[in-house]
Amino acid sequence: MKEQLEKIKLSFSDELESACLEKDINDIRIKYLGKKGEITNILKQMGKMEPEERPIIGKVANEVRNFISQNIELKLHKVREDALNKRLIEEKLDVTLPGKRINLGHKHPLSTVLDEIKQIFIGMGFSIADGPEIESDYYNFESLNMPKNHPARDTQDTFYINDNTVLRTQTSSVQIRTMQSQKPPIRIISPGRVYRSDAVDSTHSPLFHQIEGLVVDKGITFSDLKGTLQIFIEELYGKDSVIRFRPHHFPYTEPSAEVDVQCFSCNGKGCRICKNEGFIEILGCGMVHPKVLKNCNIDPEIYSGFAFGVGLERLAMRRYNIDDMRLFYENDVRFLNQF
Ligand code: DAH
Repeated sequence: MKEQLEKIKLSFSDELESACLEKDINDIRIKYLGKKGEITNILKQMGKMEPEERPIIGKVANEVRNFISQNIELKLHKVREDALNKRLIEEKLDVTLPGKRINLGHKHPLSTVLDEIKQIFIGMGFSIADGPEIESDYYNFESLNMPKNHPARDTQDTFYINDNTVLRTQTSSVQIRTMQSQKPPIRIISPGRVYRSDAVDSTHSPLFHQIEGLVVDKGITFSDLKGTLQIFIEELYGKDSVIRFRPHHFPYTEPSAEVDVQCFSCNGKGCRICKNEGFIEILGCGMVHPKVLKNCNIDPEIYSGFAFGVGLERLAMRRYNIDDMRLFYENDVRFLNQF
């Protein structure tokens, strides 16, 4: 019996030695100290022993039992400590490491120029108006004195959604919407997207941006228009900017003009960018046609107004010396990072 206990002690020590998980150690505890465990088995056999042997074997059995339970506690303690240390090492955080840089985005160059333009006009007492991009034929053409079959419609390759609905080709539609919903005096600009079925090249895109301007009040004259646009261009491009007005025709203004600004590349001498003109056209404008005022129930005998429409991309291209409009839409970070 004593030898048996010694053997149990040895095999227990071996098993405990190789156990490294808490679960395995608990299994060992059950195997040796459990109700059907090895030590319990021995103790159960005590009854069959000679009475004088009992205390001796009992003492040894108790010693082995204490040995087993003490070593199990020690080993459990060690395994738990090891697991904790392992976790601490794995989860270690080096707070002295440099942080990961998060690249911040910034405004798109078109938004930067647009924001500047808005500020310039807000400074002159204008407010910002808005209109839908999916527009009726009436607001996009008809009410602007461009009835069906009017030749001026051909200059704008229109995306039709159905016979009466288009993707607006110009922000001029917002002029009508504004005059129908507000009484003069009116002083608004309306920036937004416009659409034309144009092939993409360095100066064309099926989607681009315009900024419409409209002023209606008593006694508004062409010199108000000239002065306003002169200030606008000087604020945007600098006091020494040179602009010129050229007579032109638009169905919704009379008289009408186009405005050119001196070429930023050759300063008026003539080069590839301005096609040897020395000037680049940047906007269309004129005095609001009496028919257009009437379409909006504004009496042309009492009120007059001026309007203008300008391409945002063109202004931004001149502003940043960009010679290809496609760069604005490709969103190549190497391009965008330069602004
Ligand atoms: N709508 C014209 C265009 O898309 C631009 C324009 C010209 C707007 C004259 C106006 C204007 O308000 O008076 O080319």
